[in-house]
Amino acid sequence: MDYLPIYLTLADKPCLVVGGGGVAQRKVALLQRAQGQVHLVAPALTAELQRQADGGAVQWRQGLFEDSDLDGKHLVIAATDDSAVNAHISGLCQARGIPVNVVDNAELCSFIVPSIMDRTPVLVSVSTGGASPVLARQLRARLETLIPSTYGRLAAMAEAYRDRARSAIPDEGKRRHFWEEVLQGPIAEMVFAGRDDEARQALEDALAGKSAGREMGEVYLVGAGPGDPDLLTFRAVRLMQQADVVIYDRLVAGPILDMTRRDAERYYVGKEKDNHAVPQEGINQLLVEHARQGKRVLRLKGGDPFIFGRGGEEIETLAQEGVPFQVVPGITAAAGCASYSGIPLTHRDYAQSVTFVTGHLKAGDLDLNWPALVQPRQTVVFYMGLTGISVISQRLVEHGMSPDMPAALVEQGTTPNQRVLIGTVRTLPEIVRQAEVRAPTLTIVGEVVKLHEKLEWYQAEEHTPGTVFSSHGQAGRS
Ligand SMILES: C[S@@+](CC[C@H](N)C(=O)[O-])C[C@H]1O[C@@H](n2cnc3c(N)ncnc32)[C@H](O)[C@@H]1O
Repeated sequence: MDYLPIYLTLADKPCLVVGGGGVAQRKVALLQRAQGQVHLVAPALTAELQRQADGGAVQWRQGLFEDSDLDGKHLVIAATDDSAVNAHISGLCQARGIPVNVVDNAELCSFIVPSIMDRTPVLVSVSTGGASPVLARQLRARLETLIPSTYGRLAAMAEAYRDRARSAIPDEGKRRHFWEEVLQGPIAEMVFAGRDDEARQALEDALAGKSAGREMGEVYLVGAGPGDPDLLTFRAVRLMQQADVVIYDRLVAGPILDMTRRDAERYYVGKEKDNHAVPQEGINQLLVEHARQGKRVLRLKGGDPFIFGRGGEEIETLAQEGVPFQVVPGITAAAGCASYSGIPLTHRDYAQSVTFVTGHLKAGDLDLNWPALVQPRQTVVFYMGLTGISVISQRLVEHGMSPDMPAALVEQGTTPNQRVLIGTVRTLPEIVRQAEVRAPTLTIVGEVVKLHEKLEWYQAEEHTPGTVFSSHGQAGRS
């Protein structure tokens, strides 16, 4: 190693920052996070540093650096733009054994500052030894996505119970096993889900020898978003990688499924239109059974589980059966398709509200509040509206919507195969027929659709610009 990574105690220790510009300001903030007592030497300060100096948060001596500024300091950061001054400070500090960092000059430093992921009391630091600070920051950003922001709370809880665990489980090996179970099992998940009281109770029970929370598993009802794996939430990815069982349906894209644990048991439960591989009651039972076996069950659903996803029904059964669960929202198809097709769902000039409705036919018709849907200055998004597209088109016009109202069909939105087809309420059925539009497709109706031409940005792999159909159903290019 070129460096020894160590963590320095700075609480209430006098530290010196030489310089008063933007870089100095960032260094001051860093030292303050570690509770250092910051002294500043500079002829002038940024507005923010000046505010801090006025408020007494930092002690500022206005002027140029003097050797005596080092007296009593535990750490020094030189952030001036004068390389001779920086070199002078470095030489003095090294001679006096004071840790010194000279910004952007590794040779003059006795320590370097890593990129830090702060989950106090957990700290992870990444350094490339000055080779590439940008790379260090990128690595840190990756870690940020893997380690929940609540990790600090988990560590604090473990610390609070350390002595109790030591006396309750004297054997070191058994104790280590105990903590391994706690820190990556259901108790940790309770903390991450904000159920700290429950977690503490479970920890108490575990220490009293009742159980480590393993007898009953848990169900994670997770929204997988509309297709692009990059749209998953951090929490979704974490739970996907720790679940023992994965229960998914048709709308979950292959690349997303690939992100689940390789050795997890997988169940496809269908939900294709008119082809439910497993009926809803069967899915509910499957979740309960696996959780009862102590497994972590991932119920992965397309989009958001609470938007036309029957997620509510599934967790109702879990609640009745006393199975713990958590729900992770996902980006719903309307939000994903709107963004990736450049059609804002609301817009100051065109739409003050947006309504999500199901276009799923029942006995060949749609029982919707049509008078409400044709009101002006709103956007209406139809989920599952492909089969019923003629009924949708007809009913909207019958209830007073202009047949020329702009409308868009977004097929496989957010995926490399996305297609956007633009027309009007009247031409929708013809577009679906001509362009052989397939599910999953979302229908967006409203003036906002006009913006697509200007705001289209996403290029699907087989990119064709949004296809525009004239009022007679003739295809053209946007
Ligand atoms: C049963 S609903 C599930 C909705 C999901 N829970 C959500 O929040 O997006 C299925 C419908 O969502 C729409 N949908 C889902 N993913 C889509 C995508 N990637 N592109 C277009 N429409 C999509 C289609 O209208 C499809 O028929």
